Amino acid sequence: MGNYEKEINRRRTFAIISHPDAGKTTLTEKFLLYGGAINLAGSVKGKATARHAVSDWMEIEKERGISVTSSVLQFEYDDFCINILDTPGHQDFSEDTYRTLMAADSAVMVIDASKGVEAQTRKLFKVCVMRKIPIFTFINKMDRDANDTFELLDEIEKELGIATCPVNWPIGSGKNFKGVYDRKGKQVITYSDTQKGTKEGETNVISTLDEDKLVSFIGQENKEILLDEIELLDGASADFDLDKVQKGELTPVFFGSALTNFGVEIFLKHFLEMTTTPLPRKTGEGIIDPVSNDFSAFVFKIQANMNKAHRDRIAFMRICSGKFEAGMEVKHVQGNKVMRLSQPQQIMANDRKIVEEAYGGDIIGVFDPGVFSIGDTICMPNESFAYEGIPTFAPEHFARVRQVDTMKRKQFVKGITQIAQEGAIQIFQEFHTGMEEIIVGVVGVLQFDVLKYRLENEYNVEIKMENLPYEHIRWIENKDVDLDKLVGTSDMKKIKDLKGNPLLLFVNAWSVGMTLDRNEGLVLSEFGRE
Ligand code: G4P
Repeated sequence: MGNYEKEINRRRTFAIISHPDAGKTTLTEKFLLYGGAINLAGSVKGKATARHAVSDWMEIEKERGISVTSSVLQFEYDDFCINILDTPGHQDFSEDTYRTLMAADSAVMVIDASKGVEAQTRKLFKVCVMRKIPIFTFINKMDRDANDTFELLDEIEKELGIATCPVNWPIGSGKNFKGVYDRKGKQVITYSDTQKGTKEGETNVISTLDEDKLVSFIGQENKEILLDEIELLDGASADFDLDKVQKGELTPVFFGSALTNFGVEIFLKHFLEMTTTPLPRKTGEGIIDPVSNDFSAFVFKIQANMNKAHRDRIAFMRICSGKFEAGMEVKHVQGNKVMRLSQPQQIMANDRKIVEEAYGGDIIGVFDPGVFSIGDTICMPNESFAYEGIPTFAPEHFARVRQVDTMKRKQFVKGITQIAQEGAIQIFQEFHTGMEEIIVGVVGVLQFDVLKYRLENEYNVEIKMENLPYEHIRWIENKDVDLDKLVGTSDMKKIKDLKGNPLLLFVNAWSVGMTLDRNEGLVLSEFGRE
């Protein structure tokens, strides 16, 4: 065991997944308030300035407009060092959102109690399932009229295919929201409106055995419903099993209201206890123990033009083991080069803080002179192993792209290839031709604007884009398939990536199923592997 075991084991690195407007930002803000002192934008700020700092961070996000970023917030709570990875949502949704999940050790899924499971949650959830990381569910907005609790749980189980285990249970919702029942302690924690969390809530903890007191706080009718529901729940729901939680097979479910700051600390405490320390990660040479003394990390995201004045690229790394110290020599495995990481920093929105030291579980950003690619490994100079690559995630929007001025062919190919290398877009070609026709695939439509803007501004190339109707792309897993003999549907299109690997495009999901039916033994995947 290494000397850094204590530091590494107190780290919890997670991402919050949700559909826009479910309350991810509000919940994150409340976490930071509990953290008391937050490490944001380079300085440790007290409770009073925490809110201010967070809103600055969002202001910067807004100002930045088309730039697509995900930031990391680090704070301390109860001796834990917590890293929250922000997964960009709304129209900023892109492959980076997925990649961020590759750097996390667990995920918190926020669901709006009146909406249930929504599209974006479903997509992000698939990545968590693929990685088998623990997933915790926070059902938010209980201060508004909510869907039936059993139905909400049923929906999670059916739509996402994960068993649920409520840790607590809501009593009413909307105007009738009275609090939650804590199943383990067999007690009720009462709700009081905290005026959007600005004042301390007056919470009472009442044993369910103390029926008179319970009735005086939640009313006779709520009490009866609660006791019925508990009985039903105890008979029907999965038993709590930490092992299953850690394998991502069972999600502990909590109820609350981020806006009014109810149920947030209860959630945070349970989450920190149940979730995992930094996970061991696979390499070609076996599994690397996160608490080993030797530093190692992998690049999960590259961001160009973080700062307009400098035109730089930042590579974001997840530290997987050991300790990082500023100025130390490391080996970039894919480049086979020993180097010093230049200006290592913790990136908080647009502000940067030079990092003196960081441990397994932490995220750092380093200046990238154009040597790193997504998925690259950095480790101690005497080591040589590579972490498993980051899969390519299925784009959902496609366009055919051409340069307007044929004389600028060279700049066009150079620009579009570099932007693809950073991982902002994916590029493909027609199956039987070369680079004269480029098909661009993106996860979020905003990336098309980013591409156009960057080609014009950085490479001086004007482009024309023609949207294509495809929404589904599949990688072919079996290497021996003869594409000319493949029986597809009329809307199917064969393309290839830059390495010549064949892929299939479809207009609708039905055609994917049809093609699988028509070609026995064909294996298609939504994730591309290196
Ligand atoms: P997001 O990051 O997941 O997109 O969601 P965000 O936290 O921005 O929340 C979206 C909206 O939902 C916000 O309202 C926020 O105040 C509200 N909200 C979040 N949690 C709760 C909750 O527990 N109960 C209720 N009733 N509302 C909640 P908004 O009107 O869009 O913004 P604002 O004017 O309130 O800032």
